[in-house]
Amino acid sequence: MATNTFENKTFLTGSAMKTKKLGKDFASDLKAGDIVFFNGDLGAGKTTFIQGIMSKFGIKRFVRSASFMLVNEFETENINLYHIDLYRLGKTNIYDLGLDEYLFGKGISLIEWSERLTGCKNQKRWEINIEYVDENTRDINIKRVK
Ligand SMILES: Nc1ncnc2c1ncn2[C@@H]1O[C@H](COP(=O)(O)OP(=O)(O)O)[C@@H](O)[C@H]1O
Ligand SMILES: [Mg+2]
Repeated sequence: MATNTFENKTFLTGSAMKTKKLGKDFASDLKAGDIVFFNGDLGAGKTTFIQGIMSKFGIKRFVRSASFMLVNEFETENINLYHIDLYRLGKTNIYDLGLDEYLFGKGISLIEWSERLTGCKNQKRWEINIEYVDENTRDINIKRVK
């Protein structure tokens, strides 16, 4: 798929499977060092979208929830992916927990509840906002910031 396919676009997905598929397709645009911010209420579908991204990289042992761990690391032959979930934390500065090592590293960082992250406002990133429409439908907006 050509690059920039997903820049500043909105998608309506009618099932969790379709959100996963969107995540998988979106993952084609991801490169080493990319940062993806996810925002949306609990149950919006952030983790579901991330599952799709993981599947593109051949990661099958991805577990649904990162609730115990702040950072889950996934290694593939070519690239590492970091799943960071700030749900249980309040405002967190990027330098507080060594998060900068992930975000500014060579892997791909996927951050749930990124609105809780401070200190990286001007960081170049993707931003994905997911809104609940109805039980099976989600409104997914993908933005490229800077
Ligand atoms: N279109 C959809 N996209 C994503 N998830 C959906 C959709 N429709 C229903 N769901 C359900 O909503 C829930 C989303 O959960 P999850 O991805 O863990 O959300 P979050 O990580 O944002 O808290 C799952 O139970 C999923 O099956
Ligand atoms: Mg989640």
